[in-house]
Amino acid sequence: MVAKWYTNNTGQSLAEFSKLARDIANRVPNGSRVLEVAPGPGYFCIELAKLGDYAITGVDISHTFVEIASKKAAEAGVRVNFRQGNASAMPFADNTFDFLLCRAAFKNFGQPVRALQEMCRVLKPGGQGLIIDLRKDASMESINHEVDGMGLNAINKILTKLTFRTMLLKSAYTRPQFQYMLARANFRSVDIHEAGIGFEISMTK
Ligand SMILES: C[S@@+](CC[C@H](N)C(=O)[O-])C[C@H]1O[C@@H](n2cnc3c(N)ncnc32)[C@H](O)[C@@H]1O
Repeated sequence: MVAKWYTNNTGQSLAEFSKLARDIANRVPNGSRVLEVAPGPGYFCIELAKLGDYAITGVDISHTFVEIASKKAAEAGVRVNFRQGNASAMPFADNTFDFLLCRAAFKNFGQPVRALQEMCRVLKPGGQGLIIDLRKDASMESINHEVDGMGLNAINKILTKLTFRTMLLKSAYTRPQFQYMLARANFRSVDIHEAGIGFEISMTK
């Protein structure tokens, strides 16, 4: 039920996923192997698949989300390999991917340091990763503003704001916490950039 609610809710923000996909397509060449860690309904992967000849994989712990995302990819007529797995023990060989994205999911991981180490392991040398997630110090005012722009109906607006206040902010990380965790993975370079209510964390192996 939560998966279906999230799928419908985020489906209202398709323009945001399309823009993100275009940004990534501009920096990741055709033919690249791309991974989304915790894709949920798969909107980003599907939008990216429309833009180029990428080999795209999504790995999510939820069987329900894998099913939803696979169905949506089929409906959109694009090929994305959605599969079940845990970010902290990914079912991929070392040095597999050119690029990976993890959006709105990192704060949910039970073993976040392991997840970062896994991201580093599955990227090819020189490969790049991007984590986009909520900042713990984002103000409720800025979150309310962001949610107001999501195109949700009145009830879903209230529910989404409540979810941010009671759950998401609690599990979100601060910059020092991210720095601490990133220092425990083996990336060659990392950059933590504040963007709106979140961080964009770029990592190069
Ligand atoms: C809020 S959704 C974000 C989905 C998508 N990235 C987006 O931007 O809409 C969080 C996702 O993280 C997944 N997830 C949580 N813990 C996970 C883990 N340890 N490994 C893989 N996926 C996980 C959930 O199943 C869910 O699909």
